[in-house]
Amino acid sequence: MKKRVGIEALAVAVPRRYVDIEDLARARGVDPAKFTAGLGAKEMAVNDPGEDSVSLAATAAARLIQQQGVDTSKLGMLVVGTETGVDHSKPIASHVHGLLKLPRSMRTFDSQHACYGGTAGLMAAVEWIASGAGAGRSALVVCTDIARYGLKTAGEPTQGGGAVALLVSETPDLLAMDVGLNGVSTADVYDFWRPVGRREALVDGHYSITCYLDAMAGAYRGWRERAMEQGLVRWDSKLPSEQLARILYHVPFCKMARKAHAQVRLCDLEDSGSGPATPEARDEAAKSQASYDAQVAKSLGLNARVGNVYTASLYLALAGQLHAEAAALAGQRIGLLSYGSGSCAEFYSGVVGEKAAERMARADLDTVLAKRERVSVEEYERLMNLPYDAPEAIAPEPGTFRLAEIHEFRRKYAGA
Ligand code: CAA
Repeated sequence: MKKRVGIEALAVAVPRRYVDIEDLARARGVDPAKFTAGLGAKEMAVNDPGEDSVSLAATAAARLIQQQGVDTSKLGMLVVGTETGVDHSKPIASHVHGLLKLPRSMRTFDSQHACYGGTAGLMAAVEWIASGAGAGRSALVVCTDIARYGLKTAGEPTQGGGAVALLVSETPDLLAMDVGLNGVSTADVYDFWRPVGRREALVDGHYSITCYLDAMAGAYRGWRERAMEQGLVRWDSKLPSEQLARILYHVPFCKMARKAHAQVRLCDLEDSGSGPATPEARDEAAKSQASYDAQVAKSLGLNARVGNVYTASLYLALAGQLHAEAAALAGQRIGLLSYGSGSCAEFYSGVVGEKAAERMARADLDTVLAKRERVSVEEYERLMNLPYDAPEAIAPEPGTFRLAEIHEFRRKYAGA
């Protein structure tokens, strides 16, 4: 029998402060509806220099181990997907490994490709297990990022930060992956990038949306072809994409998921050989509100309150989706679309596990978000202007890590 492989459990870590998106709009002299209705945002996570990509990753991973009672002696791989590296050489994975006192006999590395790095790491872990190379051991995959464009930029309302830790194993209580069906699409483009040494990303915003939609069309069609060969979807009265119970997208801002969903539907409508005859009618059918409400809307609850988390955004959508309706989705197939600028997109699918609701209850996401403190725009601006290498002396909350200091280019962490 083919091995079952996938995500057994997850945990989320977010910065302890956030700004209300309407406050930010008003401070920038922008109609708040542009950020709420136009971008789909509600709140935006604000990190301080003590909450760097390492401390968020370590906090999420420690939380996963503690909440789910993970036996760390059974771990054989730790991959950190990130765009927010802290060193050209020493990986975040090595910090996390040390802070969590994980076994020496583990493969550890970082995976970087803008927002796609986490999915690349997840696939490395899944295929390591599926191939038998893991010899029954599990993997930790942690997606961690701080999305930062800078004050008063067009990208400002699409910032955020946090980490999602995933336990990958042969007991896929959350999501059993359809190994081998993934569709991918790569292109050499400059849509979003961050030259070495820069804290803020550079982005060609509207072009980046076009690049995302173009790449995802290729990835989705690749997945659909393989899924059809396996008889998982078919040309029918329902579009192939409608045969997935839910579709989760990379969410740089919530409205993007709506655009992405319309693009997936457009691929089906264009390729079906039936349906609306004119491009205008196809566009209209692609934008179906009913389809968006049924297949996408419920996944966005956490993304709307945290903002962009680059590598972790898709996995925050998975967390949000399962937080909202894990029990109802048990046994059903969902699709997931990852996009990293530069670019690489990957579409894959999996079946939600029977124990997903139980696993998600342990992740306690309501508490994770409820503990945050709302700050004013003035305080957000103060935090943004702090130097990255001089964290404020704040005692870490129990169960979390913080960057304590950087001494002679060595980072020291406190907590947990
Ligand atoms: N009321 C309601 N809606 C309003 C409004 C109002 N008063 N004013 C504007 N809007 C709507 C606009 O119509 C638009 O909606 P549509 O796209 O559906 O037409 C939306 O609000 C945004 O308006 P603009 O396009 O005018 O906004 P902008 O030019 O200021 O910037 C942005 C938007 C390009 C997303 C910018 O925030 C940005 O550059 N963000 C960072 C880049 C990004 O997130 N790219 C996504 C793809 S790349 C990727 O996914 C990788 C990654 O994570 C970065």
